[in-house]
Amino acid sequence: MSPPATKVTLHPPDAPFAGSVAVPGDKSLSHRALILGALAAGESHIANQGPGEDIASTRSVLRALGVSIDGGRLASPGRRAWREPVGPLDCGNSGTTLRLMAGALATRPYRSELTGDVTLLRRPMGRLVGPLEALGASIEVSDGERAPITVHAPGELRGTDVEIPIASAQARTAFELAALEARGSSVVSSPPGFRDHTERWLEALGRGRWLDRNRFQVVPGELEPFEYVVPGDPSSAAFLWAAAAVKPGARVTTPGITLNPGRIGFLQVLESMGAGIEAEVTGSAMGDPIGSVTVYGGVLAATEVSGELAAATLDELPLVGVLGAYAEGMTVVRDAAELRGKESDRIATTVAMIRALGGGAEATEDGFVIVGTGWLETGTVESHGDHRIAMAGAVAATAATGAVRIDGAGAAAVSWPGFYEVLEGLWSSR
Ligand code: S3P
Repeated sequence: MSPPATKVTLHPPDAPFAGSVAVPGDKSLSHRALILGALAAGESHIANQGPGEDIASTRSVLRALGVSIDGGRLASPGRRAWREPVGPLDCGNSGTTLRLMAGALATRPYRSELTGDVTLLRRPMGRLVGPLEALGASIEVSDGERAPITVHAPGELRGTDVEIPIASAQARTAFELAALEARGSSVVSSPPGFRDHTERWLEALGRGRWLDRNRFQVVPGELEPFEYVVPGDPSSAAFLWAAAAVKPGARVTTPGITLNPGRIGFLQVLESMGAGIEAEVTGSAMGDPIGSVTVYGGVLAATEVSGELAAATLDELPLVGVLGAYAEGMTVVRDAAELRGKESDRIATTVAMIRALGGGAEATEDGFVIVGTGWLETGTVESHGDHRIAMAGAVAATAATGAVRIDGAGAAAVSWPGFYEVLEGLWSSR
């Protein structure tokens, strides 16, 4: 996590803007490409890896296991020859690194310990235990719920069927990475709305198939090395989409991003609030569609986000708070209790962000309610060390009545170093 003391002050643009921005390589896909590449013996090539600290955490954990990563070139001895770690593996602020590597290491005949920074040590980990133990793995989570996690040498790993009660792509992926080395195939299911990147990769690599919409079968076996270019990150693009959406007359285009359905619920939300959207599929990679999205700003209407759409919009819900404040009427987010276990308690920090800028917001048990007035005013937003809150606060400045200061602005580097400069560059494009 970046030093909480960093401050940035943003001055709203005085005219509508129009620009095209190539956003960073996708975070979820960069983690997966690096880890799946490291499972395979041989040399994979992964271009356009996400530039943030979370991806650096995955690279450093893999290096500690004897995987060599030099720019886009990854050379691995293969999972069965990973080196036994000499000390705890530090996942920094990255929940994806920690949860996915717990699954990847669950097949190894040695003990490994996964840890991270203070916020990561507060996040829920108990969800990993049941599915991995059902395979025959042995994993120990502090107080049953928190990292550090200790992964012990397993007994025999046997394929099994598990039902994960939450729509968590990370919990599914941890299970699937372990199941690849079990004796016999496994099936995993969970409620809908999750990002199914891992399943699409396993299908593309010949190691899995869908049995129906939610049930995925993992076919154990070795993976082959691959060539891959990481597409742009829709969860990063979402900040620019929201900035255009709150400024009538503004427009932004983001080419080359992944359009996995579990990642673009936010476009549906933007559309329901009255923003103009154009999306075009231009290609695909490892089973995921890739395309260009343009968002046009306009007068926004309040909306409701719940159920499967809440799961498919999870990382963008702080932005729904910002849009709700700029809309007129009550915007309601529910079925999103998972927000409490993110880099901060995002129900509390989203509500605090909106209130800090003079908006009306109330937390509920599983979401929040925003009383939209159509405007936000000058103020100071505290990031609480959470990259998505820091960046959502900056986006809120786009149409505010005066300057917005972000305290703890450096947290943005977790997913997008240089974000504020890009946002200000967009504001000044015509
Ligand atoms: C991610 C899955 C989601 C998401 C996170 C990244 C992934 O978390 O919020 O930012 O790459 O699998 P959950 O699996 O906890 O829902």
